[in-house]
Amino acid sequence: MSKSFPDGFLWGGATAANQLEGGYNEGGKGPNLADVLPGGKKDRLKLLSDTGFDFEIDQSKYTYPNHEAIDFYHRYAEDIALFAEMGFKTFRLSIAWSRIFPNGDELEPNEEGLAFYDRVFDELAKYDIEPLVTIAHYETPLHLIKEYGGWRNRKLVEFFERYVTVLFNRYKDKVKYWLTFNEINGATHMPLLGLGFSPENEETRLQDSFQGLHHQFVASAKAVQLAHEIIPGSQIGCMLIYAPVYSFDCNPENVQYAQEQARIFNNFCGDIHVRGEYPTFINRYFKENDINIEMHDGDLELIEKGTVDFISFSYYMSRTDKKNKTPEEIGQGNLIGGVMNPFLEASDWGWEIDPVGLRIALNELYGRYQLPLFIVENGLGAYDVVEEDGSINDDYRIKYLREHIQAIADAIEDGVEVMGYTSWGCIDLVSASSGEMSKRYGFIYVDKHDDGSGTLARSRKKSFFWYKKVIDTNGEEL
Ligand code: BG6
Repeated sequence: MSKSFPDGFLWGGATAANQLEGGYNEGGKGPNLADVLPGGKKDRLKLLSDTGFDFEIDQSKYTYPNHEAIDFYHRYAEDIALFAEMGFKTFRLSIAWSRIFPNGDELEPNEEGLAFYDRVFDELAKYDIEPLVTIAHYETPLHLIKEYGGWRNRKLVEFFERYVTVLFNRYKDKVKYWLTFNEINGATHMPLLGLGFSPENEETRLQDSFQGLHHQFVASAKAVQLAHEIIPGSQIGCMLIYAPVYSFDCNPENVQYAQEQARIFNNFCGDIHVRGEYPTFINRYFKENDINIEMHDGDLELIEKGTVDFISFSYYMSRTDKKNKTPEEIGQGNLIGGVMNPFLEASDWGWEIDPVGLRIALNELYGRYQLPLFIVENGLGAYDVVEEDGSINDDYRIKYLREHIQAIADAIEDGVEVMGYTSWGCIDLVSASSGEMSKRYGFIYVDKHDDGSGTLARSRKKSFFWYKKVIDTNGEEL
């Protein structure tokens, strides 16, 4: 039992356009990165981390789960009605850039794409559900990747500015909460997802990633300024993937190493978005890795002026690390590296489950920045079983979410200011890392399978009724 959640707490769920919309070539939409990513753990992850991925759709070799996804493009009204039934106060979605600018570099937007999101926002408004919109969520227009080399190229700042200006003007009466780049700090791990380029080789990976990030910092700062100008009262946040880094033991060498990893991974991007300047600790890292950032006059002033209103982040796992890993330990840790934590269990996909880590994350972030925090992704990817009577008894998901929401309540008691919580994949959707449908996160089951089969019918899981009660009682009954 907890009474921690403030009135007006924004409970809801989170998604991304490419993972649920489908309709990949409808309404004048151009192809984007997600449209060329095949399904299946092995192929997808390999292409995501390989160098030199050539981005062609090859139907004879692969399936492309994002093409139809769960068909939210046509079924959004039914899905939003289900969110409303759970009592959602907010719904996080992203706008597919290539619905608005099919190639990304046009001068005029695509009206059909803009009209689609008008319909979605109007439907949400019917139920008083506040949209929380991610402007860029792993769906860079393909043309910008192929012709310009993604965010390595400074030209993307200009195209992005045009895109956000169109969005803010069009939706100024409909959308108050915005996020700029999804999990911006994950970019150095998988540049293709965040920065839209596949490194030519390992030597250039870091240099190009940090240059691409610089362009995104400039673009984000511009977006913040434009949002404030065009939509008075709007709030615009950054979006980080946050994983507290634990030292494997109390050996000071390992503690120092863990602290250093946390600075680079967790703090670097946040510091720029929130404090408006490059942190001094990065100079040493840039020097040691021979990274030189090319900046234009005025970039640093812009970054200084375009600081965010709040901090949003995804939380799935912590990371445990040590300085000298044995060959057996390398690759045994979580998605984002490190070593295995002997105190934690992992999901079927090897993601370590650590609710206390969320309390730690909230305290670390608030202690560093004193800005309101918004957990915009958290959840358990799991295999669900549909019983003969159609029910889905996902007690494991309820347990996971209950423990994580309790951790938020504890952090609020610790004095942390939290605006809201949107669990990831509130309706089953395509996994970003593996392209699987069977890695399910939702309160709502979608009859769609890894091989592309299924009726696309929606049904309520046990967790659906549980989450409804959580929202009804503003988190008092978990
Ligand atoms: C986050 C992404 O990293 O994790 C989402 O922002 C993604 O797009 C989510 O879906 C869960 O990851 P996965 O690989 O299980 O879909």
